[in-house]
Amino acid sequence: MHATIALLPGDGIGPEVIDAAADVLRVVATRHGHTLALTRSRFGAAALRAGDPPLPPATLDACLAADAVLLGAVGDPAFSEGPRERRPETGLLELRTALGVYANLRPARVWPGLEDGGSLRADTLRGVDMLIVRELIGGIYFGEPRGRTADRREAFDTMRYSAHEVERIAVAAFESARGRRKLVTSVDKANVLESSRLWREVVTEVGTRYPDVRLEHQLVDSCAMRLVSDPGSFDVMLAGNLFGDILSDEAGAVVGSLGLLPSASVGGKGGLFEPVHGSAPDIAGQNVANPVGTIASAAMLLRHALGLSDAADEIESAIGAVLDAGCRTADLARNGEPSLSCTEMTRAIVERLGSG
Ligand code: IPM
Ligand code: MN
Repeated sequence: MHATIALLPGDGIGPEVIDAAADVLRVVATRHGHTLALTRSRFGAAALRAGDPPLPPATLDACLAADAVLLGAVGDPAFSEGPRERRPETGLLELRTALGVYANLRPARVWPGLEDGGSLRADTLRGVDMLIVRELIGGIYFGEPRGRTADRREAFDTMRYSAHEVERIAVAAFESARGRRKLVTSVDKANVLESSRLWREVVTEVGTRYPDVRLEHQLVDSCAMRLVSDPGSFDVMLAGNLFGDILSDEAGAVVGSLGLLPSASVGGKGGLFEPVHGSAPDIAGQNVANPVGTIASAAMLLRHALGLSDAADEIESAIGAVLDAGCRTADLARNGEPSLSCTEMTRAIVERLGSG
């Protein structure tokens, strides 16, 4: 097949991890006889520095024209104080909205070789394999009104959900659960928030259409605790935009490193694929970033946007094999353990692909 993938390297370690994923994509495409056209566009602070908005019109056009988008990361301390329209993150929120990708799928599992690698005890980590289904284009990230009072001494955001928005993300969660262990844990704060009460009502209603899937509701505070005390008890975790954002970073730490987590944002045009980690300005340009989250996002892209499940499986097996063989980037290395650079880790994965 022929497909076009828009690469948005973005900021910080974004360009390094995108180069890594592009190498892997080229190798699997060649092995399977596919031609992938990889385009690159400026995004985030990289666009702001060139005098453009964070999501330049030409970049949006390239994303809309592509079969899928693979993004590195956005965020740059140099722009963190600026007005909203000149913040790199605003470009990402605009892109998600423009593509209509309301369903953000964030799998978090313990990879082979990392069963005792996280900050938790090995017996707590055993069998951890969850999918966070995060609503991505609604909730408090977008609710109006938001802003500041005239004297700028008060600020407000609005957590707002329509029944329609909750229903479609709930359907995504239940559909995902059907292909897994058939448990949905819906996360809310229904003991306090009106939007959570609607959330719980609609999720319960959707649940009646999936009698084969077990549904449980969990308050976000106790969910955060259960995620470290009993992470293996989750299958699909369904959450709104903000709670899903917070819990997915926690899930990253549980399985060993946020650098391992991929994501797929689907439901709209094509799909947007990006690692869960941010731009990590403190380690940018040093060739020490963990490329696994982005390479695994490329695998999700092949599976979800292009229907190339075999190629996706191969990439995931190669990642598992190199981790199992003891390859570690700095974020994964224990005290004194030698670590691989971003490009060395990528080479190990590419070599494994070639020998499979
Ligand atoms: C994420 C990030 C983004 C988010 C930021 C960069 C806007 O933290 O994808 O998890 O909050 O969605
Ligand atoms: Mn986040």
